[in-house]
Amino acid sequence: MELKGKVALITGAAAGIGLAYSEELLKQGAKVSLCDIESDIGEQVADELGSKYGRKNVLFCQCDVTDYPQYEEAFEMTIKVFNRLDIVVNNAGVMNDRFWELEVDVNLLCACAANFIILSSKLTSHDLIKLIPKDSESAGPDLPKYE
Ligand SMILES: NC(=O)c1ccc[n+]([C@@H]2O[C@H](COP(=O)([O-])OP(=O)(O)OC[C@H]3O[C@@H](n4cnc5c(N)ncnc54)[C@H](O)[C@@H]3O)[C@@H](O)[C@H]2O)c1
Repeated sequence: MELKGKVALITGAAAGIGLAYSEELLKQGAKVSLCDIESDIGEQVADELGSKYGRKNVLFCQCDVTDYPQYEEAFEMTIKVFNRLDIVVNNAGVMNDRFWELEVDVNLLCACAANFIILSSKLTSHDLIKLIPKDSESAGPDLPKYE
């Protein structure tokens, strides 16, 4: 897939794997909307990536993916600033079984929310990349399998 000029919205983009996706997409010439619940770290990361890959190519949207209006607003802001949206990386996640309801909200329900926002928007083409358990390589001991 040619990534130059494409626009990607990435959740949980302020740290870890989401940040790695963001930097790689920027390296490949895409524009990135970093969405994360952590606004201080998110702004800082957006600033750093902006100075490396061009400020006009990076946007930070503070957003809690379990809050539907906030999540919807992040999509709207991304499309308003970049005029398009091609890729959604539904990456935000928590792993703490003591708070299993939060895990279900963040890890599962926000994927449904992303699908719904895309379906109800005027987007005509997109790729929604989801991280879901599958029968493939295991991410590690005691972790579900991911594809
Ligand atoms: N690290 C691993 O070994 C591993 C293995 C398999 C799957 N995963 C999955 O990959 C994804 C990223 O993992 P990671 O290790 O980079 O995690 P991480 O904890 O390093 O980063 C997660 C990011 O998501 C953000 N976030 C958390 N809740 C949010 C919310 N409600 N709204 C918006 N942002 C929120 C956090 O602020 C953080 O920036 C997760 O979905 C995780 O379950 C990770």
